[in-house]
Amino acid sequence: MSLFKDKVVVITGGSDGIGKALVEMFLKMGAKVATCGRNYDKFYQLQQTNVSKPLLIQAADVSKELDCKNFIDKVIANYGTIDILINNAGVSMRALFADVELDTLKKVMDINFWGAVYCTKFCLPYITQNKGTIVGVSSIAGYRGLPGRTAYCASKFAVNGWLEALRTELLNTGVNVMWVCPGFTSSNIRNAALNSNGTSQGETTMDEGKMMTSEACATHIINAIEKKKRTLVLTFTGKRTVFMNKFFPALADKLTHNYFFKNGVLFK
Ligand SMILES: NC(=O)c1ccc[n+]([C@@H]2O[C@H](COP(=O)([O-])OP(=O)(O)OC[C@H]3O[C@@H](n4cnc5c(N)ncnc54)[C@H](OP(=O)(O)O)[C@@H]3O)[C@@H](O)[C@H]2O)c1
Repeated sequence: MSLFKDKVVVITGGSDGIGKALVEMFLKMGAKVATCGRNYDKFYQLQQTNVSKPLLIQAADVSKELDCKNFIDKVIANYGTIDILINNAGVSMRALFADVELDTLKKVMDINFWGAVYCTKFCLPYITQNKGTIVGVSSIAGYRGLPGRTAYCASKFAVNGWLEALRTELLNTGVNVMWVCPGFTSSNIRNAALNSNGTSQGETTMDEGKMMTSEACATHIINAIEKKKRTLVLTFTGKRTVFMNKFFPALADKLTHNYFFKNGVLFK
């Protein structure tokens, strides 16, 4: 029998990409799942493909504290408790710092960092009671700054530091706190990435076909939850980037610059 049978799993941003793959895998393993997001059309599709399964879907923008509170209150009203929280909802960006509006930077921080903080705060009493798991879906960008993604990197560094501190606070409580850092994963994230004025870019500048699939990424995350891991760094390129940045940071600056710029222009 699956370890996750009848466990209550909350996954933010479960209507697309990695979050959607997590929702579908946890449902298959017999968990009771709750998810949130902003776009009703995407929810409708998720609902239609999972009729008669224990799936609670709520419209919520995680950058809004009240939306997060209402979402978690609804989970408790429906399922009575929470075992696992996966802070997955996130947005990326693609604009040089010199060009980007300050509001765009704040928007990225509000979703990626504060969204995770709000949901964790409201779930914590239940997860502590159940000796459950808190996961932050961070990024390689939480270890290595990437050009054109200043606020995205800041938000993911913030998630890593905040969760490391929280993990240490909760060390003897039986709660496992983990941050996972996917490498490039095929999903909607580059289409939805914010441009300088905070609107979706609407295209991907990279070859999604060569990336890890969202399903493979979700499988790694689920295995890491099962093993109560501390961190998870994914893909060969991702691991190499973290290694290079730790031991050869100046060289990593040059390699990263060359990867993202062509003739002095940001092209990825
Ligand atoms: N794909 C990658 O290459 C990659 C690499 C490293 C880390 N990650 C991280 O993985 C996580 C999932 O990303 P993904 O690649 O699966 O992206 P995705 O395909 O764009 O999915 C993002 C999900 O988050 C939801 N979301 C976005 N903003 C939200 C908000 N304000 N409130 C509630 N839900 C929100 C989206 O739904 P709505 O738009 O409807 O709200 C969607 O369901 C993110 O934290 C991302 O930073 C991804």
